[in-house]
Amino acid sequence: MVLAQQGVKDPPVVPRHVAIVMDGNGRWAQQRGLPRTDGHREGSRVARTTVEHAIRRGVDALTLFAFSSENWTRPVEEVDVLMQLFLEALDSQARDLIENGVRLSFIGDRSTLSAPLQEDMARVELATSGNTRLRLQVAVSYGGRWDIVQASRQLAAAVGRGELGLDDIDEQAVSDRLSLAGLPDPDLFIRTGGERRISNFLLWNLAYTELYFCDSAWPDFSADHFDRAIDYFAACERRFGATSHQVRGGP
Ligand code: IPE
Ligand code: IPE
Ligand code: MG
Repeated sequence: MVLAQQGVKDPPVVPRHVAIVMDGNGRWAQQRGLPRTDGHREGSRVARTTVEHAIRRGVDALTLFAFSSENWTRPVEEVDVLMQLFLEALDSQARDLIENGVRLSFIGDRSTLSAPLQEDMARVELATSGNTRLRLQVAVSYGGRWDIVQASRQLAAAVGRGELGLDDIDEQAVSDRLSLAGLPDPDLFIRTGGERRISNFLLWNLAYTELYFCDSAWPDFSADHFDRAIDYFAACERRFGATSHQVRGGP
């Protein structure tokens, strides 16, 4: 029925916003007898090719989970390498991002990051702020619970200043203060590495996102894997609480 209504000439359904948990770097390296940090290095390369493929497929927004608020509990040597890799990636990829029309933003608790990293992040955000081809968000020192807490603090402060009444606090008011304010919620969530959990990623924004889990480790994630996830999304019937009949627009 649906296929008949959509017609064979309909363009393929591409998610507007894709959110990815880039997991499995450490295990990928360990399985090869390499230090975990080699997996992160390879993962950084795959992040770049994934951005390129998102552009090719016409995705409008891509949000990548690079380092969680809980990842600070890892051995200090691993954290140090990850922070160094972020710095290197920013330095080496800034020009490509600008040329490819990518607008880069970081989400997460920046106060926990080193001053040089914070400065580089702000510099690349500014340099790419006029770009419109792809909105790229990289989550560093990010936690979904942290995000809801920081939004709650902003709301409480606005109420305290008398700028906002209690009745003004609705879903939109919360959304407007979260890290992804102004972006549509992710349509498609992808997690590589075999685990089937959210791990404190975008807790609020994933309310109606289609979830896709890929057993391959992030360093093995290819354009084909990405295409398969998009195909999965295209086959989903998004009901948002309504009935299938309503969504299909039947009589
Ligand atoms: C994801 O890969 C990268 C970060 C969390 C920083 P992992 O480092 O979690 O790799 P696994 O899950 O241990 O294999
Ligand atoms: C989630 O992966 C965070 C990132 C990929 C950045 P983790 O490896 O930290 O998640 P858990 O610990 O397996 O849930
Ligand atoms: Mg992991």
